[in-house]
Amino acid sequence: MAEPKKLFIKTYGCQMNVYDSARMAEAMGADGYVLTEDQGQADMVLLNTCHIREKAAEKLYSDLGRLKPLKADRPDLKIAVAGCVAQAEGQEIVNRMPLVDLVVGPQTYHRLPAMARGEGPAVLTEFPAEDKFDHLPQTRNTRRAPTAFLTVQEGCDKFCAFCVVPYTRGAEVSRPVERILAEARDLVSRGVRELTLLGQNVNGWHGLGPDGREWQFGRLIRAVAEIDGLDRIRYTTSHPNDMGDDLIAAHCDEPKLMPYLHLPVQSGSDRVLKAMNRKHHAADYLRLIERIREARPDILLTSDFIVGFPGETEQDHQDTLRLIETVGYGMAYSFKYSPRPGTPAAGRDEVAPEVADRRLQELQALLTRQQKAAQQGMVGRRVGVLIEKKGREAGQMIGKSDYLHSVFVEAPEAAIGALVQVEITESASNSLAGRLI
Ligand code: SAH
Ligand code: SF4
Ligand code: F3S
Repeated sequence: MAEPKKLFIKTYGCQMNVYDSARMAEAMGADGYVLTEDQGQADMVLLNTCHIREKAAEKLYSDLGRLKPLKADRPDLKIAVAGCVAQAEGQEIVNRMPLVDLVVGPQTYHRLPAMARGEGPAVLTEFPAEDKFDHLPQTRNTRRAPTAFLTVQEGCDKFCAFCVVPYTRGAEVSRPVERILAEARDLVSRGVRELTLLGQNVNGWHGLGPDGREWQFGRLIRAVAEIDGLDRIRYTTSHPNDMGDDLIAAHCDEPKLMPYLHLPVQSGSDRVLKAMNRKHHAADYLRLIERIREARPDILLTSDFIVGFPGETEQDHQDTLRLIETVGYGMAYSFKYSPRPGTPAAGRDEVAPEVADRRLQELQALLTRQQKAAQQGMVGRRVGVLIEKKGREAGQMIGKSDYLHSVFVEAPEAAIGALVQVEITESASNSLAGRLI
């Protein structure tokens, strides 16, 4: 028997790219490729890229530069670029870096095996009429891990003025209920205990239920929750305008749905929100947060913020800080605005970099204080922890709490995959420690 060919994958960007990388590995697996962690051993190097900010996109080119000696040594090595930079730049990537053999976008990667066999184009970035999920292996071949991602919705029709996603992922599409449930059941039968449902606007998912009715996202969560052996459900990322009543209600009374919600607001200033084309006001968001907290008082909230969006004034910045004070986040991501080619905001006058830097620091200082307070508030509480892997020290395991905090706990290795009850004893900078109850 021939040696299996080896595939090395590097994944940049969001969770959906992590999911896509797993699906590409499975598709290539059907062609006899096995994954390797050693780039030097690979027959094919696949870079699954992110275009969201300039720095993210530039990483691709520095990584490709570093691949030059390897390719010079072994001209038969195949180098493939997938993901959102592939979609945005297509043929440009090969022009700039001729060592690249294949370029494939997020909606066409089911064709990667054929492309690698030389039976397809070298660059494929159209948005095809066919659904890639129909052409991917129908059973998942996960590494034995207790958690998994599952894409239920893809693409975005919101067109926030700063964002490339509607151009790189295409229009919003919801996967059908039956496909989602079949994939979820398959993953659970392979030992998965926690599923994170993914979508660029995951809470905008909708579809025809087996009962003949139009389902919204909250109904889908309840159907997934009926799967025996599945303990936990999470989802990301949500848009405030798609936060339906059924989803809020599920946070109240569906025990498998975890008390955690990533609900990006981007800014606390109505002027900036309007310029961003976010289609909501700060007050709408605050009212929504109140309703969510009525349904689930202990829910941990997180968000994304963009600092230094074109036209942002000191007052706008103060409004954002005030919104953060009002909400009280458990954690949040914040980014300096990065102009992206082809987006409506790209040509606008930018905030001076030193001003944006200072604002970012102020915002992050406040968010860090809130994160510390939220973690400190966990000390003494009893929480569920799903044990995921070994820690660095002997006898130490790492898992995630219901609120998605990393928790270190003394436990036997056999506990991997078990949902245990833990009393939190300590809070460190980015994790908690606790003991088994
Ligand atoms: N689908 C997700 C967004 C994915 S991008 C959602 O709608 O929330 C993740 C985050 O990156 C965004 O929430 C935004 O805060 C940030 N981001 C997107 N474009 C950006 C840009 N041009 N500059 C800086 N940050 C950006
Ligand atoms: Fe980008 Fe806005 Fe769509 Fe989120 S909602 S993916 S930020 S355009
Ligand atoms: Fe990046 Fe594309 Fe995800 S731009 S954040 S990899 S959808």
